[in-house]
Amino acid sequence: MKPFNVYSLFDIEITRAKGSLLWDDKGNQYLDLYGGHAVISVGHSHPYYVEMLKEQLEKIGFYSNSIKINLQNELADKLGNLSGYPDYDLFLCNSGAEANENAFKLASFHNGRKKIIAFKGSFHGRTSLAVAATDNPSIVAPVNQNENIVFLPFNDIETFEQAIGDDICAVVIEGVQGVGGINIPTPAFLKRVEALCNKHGVLLILDEVQSGYGRSGNFFAHQYADIKPHIITTAKGMGNGFPIAGVLISPEIKSKLEMLGTTFGGNYLACAAGIAVLDIIKNEKLVENALDKGNYLTEKLKGIPSIKEVRSVGLMTGIELYGPCAEVRKTLLNEYKIFTGSSSNKNTIRLLPALNVTREHIDQFIEALQNVLQPEAIQS
Ligand SMILES: Cc1ncc(COP(=O)(O)O)c(C=O)c1O
Repeated sequence: MKPFNVYSLFDIEITRAKGSLLWDDKGNQYLDLYGGHAVISVGHSHPYYVEMLKEQLEKIGFYSNSIKINLQNELADKLGNLSGYPDYDLFLCNSGAEANENAFKLASFHNGRKKIIAFKGSFHGRTSLAVAATDNPSIVAPVNQNENIVFLPFNDIETFEQAIGDDICAVVIEGVQGVGGINIPTPAFLKRVEALCNKHGVLLILDEVQSGYGRSGNFFAHQYADIKPHIITTAKGMGNGFPIAGVLISPEIKSKLEMLGTTFGGNYLACAAGIAVLDIIKNEKLVENALDKGNYLTEKLKGIPSIKEVRSVGLMTGIELYGPCAEVRKTLLNEYKIFTGSSSNKNTIRLLPALNVTREHIDQFIEALQNVLQPEAIQS
């Protein structure tokens, strides 16, 4: 048997990692400014994180959700306090797509409606309704096509005002569109969406799977707009690589036994990883660091004239060039040993560094990018 061939792969085998650095099997060192696809929040192999997972595994790794697992309470408590949502409930699951599926289910259980508003440029996952609400027809199988999803232009208040009504179940929007190329919802748009959702009994779902957990310089990106969604979904940075996801649920949404469930969600190891991440973020003031280093990075990028546009919130950064960025990324990786991300906007490089990235790492990247953006430097 061999792995099903669905990923385009770099010919690199990473065997070790620490903080924002990676090493391959030949001993080459790399700088990870992609955070392993927005997953690495507290840095690779953080000693506190490693120790907590090891200790937990020595005690017990898994039992089912048919017994009390006190670590779930500790995780919920710490997440509520650090994120500014102490009165919300937490449903634990395993991936971003699963968190969104559960969010849609909850919204529909709550108001009995079916229609969901999503936005152009969105990405919400690859399963069932999550992929139906994702603006990429090439990954939507016929069985996933769903007439209950309506796509509206992003940041367009007028069109939204015309589309929202008492027939809508939920509105789903990313805190910052990540896969779409770092597209930032304006606070005015988010505030209007929130107000109209409340007026029409529509549930507002903030997909913070990529933009959450501090990378935006706030715990959740939507907190810049001072809005309060009914449901917030989170995953990626939540476990720093251990699969864990969460649905934060407003107290006005009531639970009923068996309405949601999962075998693996909230297991001991996942909770230990989640608690370790929150402890590190809090103790090392990493949300503040993300804001500080994000501002530094943006300022430096804005000084490079061959960049068309920089879109950033904290460390979540989109660097839009005047043409396709694929060759620039390839040269950054092969010549300068720096991992960056792509996006569905072919001209935009996406950066999602760990929250504890340093100024030195940013300087290293800026120097490399300046060199690569000299026209003659691009690899053919
Ligand atoms: C905003 C957003 N939502 C949902 C997902 C899906 O998460 P997962 O791949 O963990 O299912 C992603 C993944 O990239 C994402 O960026």
